[in-house]
Amino acid sequence: MTMQAETLPKTHPFQAEVAELLRLMVHSVYSETDVFLRELISNASDACDRLRYEAIARPELIVDGAPLAIRITPDAKAQTLTISDTGIGMDQQELIDNLGTVARSGTRAFLSRLNEAKDGTSLIGQFGVGFYSAFIVADRIVVVSRRAGASEAWVWRSSGGDGFEIEPASEEDAKRVTRGTEIVLHLKPDAKRYLETYEIERVVKTYSDHILFPIELKTADAEPRQINAASALWHRPKSELKPEDYTQAYRSIAGAFDEPAMTIHYKAEGRQSYAVLLFVPSTEPFDLFDPNRKGRIKLYVRRVYITDDAGLLPGYLRFARGAVDSEDLPLNISREMLQNNPQVEQIRKGITGRVLTELENLADKDAEAFAKTWTTFGKIVKEGLYEDFERRDQLLALCRFDTTAGDTRSLKQYIADFKPNQTEIYYLVGESAERVKSNPKLEAARARGVEVLLLTDPVDAFWTSAPLGFEGKPFRSLSQGDVDFELIPRTDQGADAEPKPDEGEETTIVAAVKAALGERVSDVRASKRLTDSAACLVADSRGRDRELERLLARQSRGSGTKPILELNVRHPILKMLSRAKADGRDDEVADLSALLFEQAQILDGEVPNDPAQFAARINRLVARGLA
Ligand SMILES: Nc1ncnc2c1ncn2[C@@H]1O[C@H](COP(=O)(O)OP(=O)(O)O)[C@@H](O)[C@H]1O
Ligand SMILES: [Mg+2]
Repeated sequence: MTMQAETLPKTHPFQAEVAELLRLMVHSVYSETDVFLRELISNASDACDRLRYEAIARPELIVDGAPLAIRITPDAKAQTLTISDTGIGMDQQELIDNLGTVARSGTRAFLSRLNEAKDGTSLIGQFGVGFYSAFIVADRIVVVSRRAGASEAWVWRSSGGDGFEIEPASEEDAKRVTRGTEIVLHLKPDAKRYLETYEIERVVKTYSDHILFPIELKTADAEPRQINAASALWHRPKSELKPEDYTQAYRSIAGAFDEPAMTIHYKAEGRQSYAVLLFVPSTEPFDLFDPNRKGRIKLYVRRVYITDDAGLLPGYLRFARGAVDSEDLPLNISREMLQNNPQVEQIRKGITGRVLTELENLADKDAEAFAKTWTTFGKIVKEGLYEDFERRDQLLALCRFDTTAGDTRSLKQYIADFKPNQTEIYYLVGESAERVKSNPKLEAARARGVEVLLLTDPVDAFWTSAPLGFEGKPFRSLSQGDVDFELIPRTDQGADAEPKPDEGEETTIVAAVKAALGERVSDVRASKRLTDSAACLVADSRGRDRELERLLARQSRGSGTKPILELNVRHPILKMLSRAKADGRDDEVADLSALLFEQAQILDGEVPNDPAQFAARINRLVARGLA
């Protein structure tokens, strides 16, 4: 018994998520099946990259064996397609970890989106599901792998389902796979076309032409021949390259499926030489909102891939993808050493500046294209306003805003359209465009035709919390501190419909409301920003703006600062309140005051603390009016 158990291959269950993924692949009616080859070639290329990097410290890993390459072998007789590489390979544990769990974030993102989507198959292409996409075309997969430098090789087998088995490779397998990985796909009946050489060449040309290692096609009756260009696109002159070349390079480097919205390709010469090929995607990459906010620019040193974790762009440009190939960095630089390396810092400065100038150029040359990119990534770029003080002015010049005068307005345009006596840039932060547009805090500005920036991205509450200006004009929030429009002439047929009460009455009204509201507000005062509405809530000029306070309160990081209630003393409601006060109807004063406070909350998108009381109060006041 024991003897037998030892010779049986060890079976392992797939992690539940993998099993779910595989069920989807097996039942997939997905039409763009080509992705599997792209994913397997990309893994083979990564494996070669990793071996080349390890071999910098341990050259014996490479010199003794076959050159780094990827090979595709169709076998019509066996109905198999084999993809092999002479890269780093995997040992037993790595096979279990890498081909049994979902490690990569793209696949995770795919799975989390899967629950929302009705048709999961359409998502496969959008995310790419790595190794597991091989099960789209294969019903059985056999992997033989030998870690570089290891004495033993291992076999991994699976037919999808719930598990895979692993055992030491047979003598024959071990002899064939001297280093790296061989993946044998037993093709499903409807995937047999991938045995045709023209089909394989088509897919490789389309998706993997610029993989840096040679991809060889080996058929039964011929010598292997290379079917990809295998050139580092960034080293080739621009004049030789067509837009399709760039698109393909973008997709292959970024693992993306969309078109690049912007391509940046240049060589920096001087104190440091490096080639740059960067892309701005046209759609959001899946990892855009990963908490680590890291970019994924690949760093090469003289064509040897080092890492995509060198932080070559700041967090607020993390949507850009691509590669930088340095001529000067030492090849044996460790990933850790990259952290504080002054040369890397210089490259980072250089390409950050370049991305920003290219964005500026696009804005100048093609406002529409720029507007599209801004709509997709503007909310990320704005993070730079509080992270990168050095470049703040440059970033502010790039910013486009929705304003009361239209969308995608620049600050230059805003300032050019200043009204007489206007000296400040007005803005209002809020949760959604609709809500901000109907906010009464805009009334005084509207009555004067003064444009207001409507800031509705979550990041807006943060960057506006620092004192800012553009071309010498300070920013000013309409929901914070004192705002005085008196010097700017009104454009809406002049005076208010209602006369202003005299100063004595104003003081009485303000005092009465303040007494009635007590602890709920930090102050009550007559407003200069309202023309039609009765009341609004604003923040103290020294504290946080209301929207930021709300955002932080949601994460229980609010300071609990109380707002200031501003009253439009010309409003009929306040006249009623004034009369009630004079007649000693204190209940009514209390109800009206609370109502003013609560309606101001609602206009800011908040819910009154006690909705039941709020409703009861309205009903009381209505009943009184009708009685
Ligand atoms: N040909 C290969 N050689 C070595 N390791 C591989 C190979 N193919 C896959 N792997 C390992 O399996 C892991 C999972 O692959 P995959 O599902 O494509 O995700 P990703 O490539 O995004 O990490 C890889 O990260 C790698 O560690
Ligand atoms: Mg992969």
